[in-house]
Amino acid sequence: MRLVLLGAPGSGKGTQAELLKGELGIPHVSTGDLLRAAVKAGTPLGIEAKAVMDAGQLVSDAIVLGMLEDRLAHADATKGFILDGYPRNVAQCEALETLLARIGQPLEVAIKLDVPSELIVDRIAGRAAAQGRKDDTPETVRERLRVYAEQTEPVARHFAQIGKLKVVDGVGDLAEVSQRILGALPQSA
Ligand code: AP5
Repeated sequence: MRLVLLGAPGSGKGTQAELLKGELGIPHVSTGDLLRAAVKAGTPLGIEAKAVMDAGQLVSDAIVLGMLEDRLAHADATKGFILDGYPRNVAQCEALETLLARIGQPLEVAIKLDVPSELIVDRIAGRAAAQGRKDDTPETVRERLRVYAEQTEPVARHFAQIGKLKVVDGVGDLAEVSQRILGALPQSA
């Protein structure tokens, strides 16, 4: 199964991808996690990305595409993948389609987790208290939500236009949301 998880910051993409990867036997590929690992390792790319992430903006398309391409070349991704955090704008959407066509792994479905903004704010505040993620401050979260509405919502519209979008209610306990996602996957899953 080759799927993309879409949804606002804090909608539960990372949480659900971690739960589903065992169920589906495919890796969770998160561009946010790849970038955070580069920041932590202090690589030149990580140093460049850090300020952009802390401001709630998008890291350059070329950097993120290069990281994604490297990750999808790993052996575990040949059976499929759960993409989390990519694509995030229309240019990334086009780049993804080109990349997946080239490696013969076309996307099967995009699942959008639908969560009301007031719950998003509560969830991120909870994570900020528990984990202290640098981009979970109220000001940066506002900017991330603005960037999501402006740049990532059009990606969901694109997947809807090509008949690949499924919208899933992301409110409820974790197992319940996972079951909804599994129920929305195409039959080949
Ligand atoms: P990224 O790491 O992708 O962050 P995000 O999309 O903003 O998503 P989050 O990680 O905040 O939320 P999530 O939907 O995964 O929710 P989670 O499961 O954690 O990106 C970070 C930054 O990296 C970007 O701002 C950008 O700078 C850069 N970046 C990344 N990808 C990029 C790209 N493609 N191009 C350019 N730049 C890129 O859940 C949130 C909280 O809610 C958790 O505490 C969780 O425990 C809780 N929770 C989850 N589900 C539930 C539930 N059902 N009920 C109650 N609580 C729940």
